Amino acid sequence: MTDRASAVSVAEVPLDVVLPLRSAVLRGGGPAGMPGDDDPATVHLAARDAGGRVVGVVRYSPAPCPWRPDARAPWQLRGMATTPGVRGLGVGRVLVAEGLARVAARGGDLVWCDARTTAAGFYERMGFTVVTGEYDKPGVGPHVGMVVALEP
Ligand SMILES: CC(C)(COP(=O)(O)OP(=O)(O)OC[C@H]1O[C@@H](n2cnc3c(N)ncnc32)[C@H](O)[C@@H]1OP(=O)(O)O)[C@@H](O)C(=O)NCCC(=O)NCCS
Repeated sequence: MTDRASAVSVAEVPLDVVLPLRSAVLRGGGPAGMPGDDDPATVHLAARDAGGRVVGVVRYSPAPCPWRPDARAPWQLRGMATTPGVRGLGVGRVLVAEGLARVAARGGDLVWCDARTTAAGFYERMGFTVVTGEYDKPGVGPHVGMVVALEP
């Protein structure tokens, strides 16, 4: 899809396309692989600007939700990152919206994430709700659990 406001296009991409930005933004330039990255069910999305540069990435994969054990088909959002120069322009929004649509199309009924507390407001704008207190992820910092239910 293409979002006119930010002139980015979002597409499903191979893992190697998302790793550089994921590493730069979320891992301080270090190794950025995550368990399940190579699972055939995992969906990696990248947003590219008009010049073809990757300006945002995210991944979605089927995974049990720690806080909603009754969810029929839960998926986890991880590795959400946009380049500092485009923040606030809607790139994160189109990545989440596109991902939720793709998960729903695959039969998912819930998406959850461990959200950095600094990003919780972003996910709330995307329809997620905080369902836990704060917890620490060693080396990363404080997080909250967030979920969004998907329409069938
Ligand atoms: C969090 C992040 C992905 C947001 O990306 P973005 O491209 O700036 O997001 P958007 O421009 O699409 O923002 C969508 C809306 O959320 C708001 N928003 C964005 N970041 C926010 C934040 N950290 N807190 C509160 N609101 C935020 C925007 O103002 C916008 O609001 P609107 O509905 O009024 O338009 C980006 O800031 C980022 O990569 N941060 C560093 C890595 C990170 O923390 N990743 C998440 C790990 S859990």
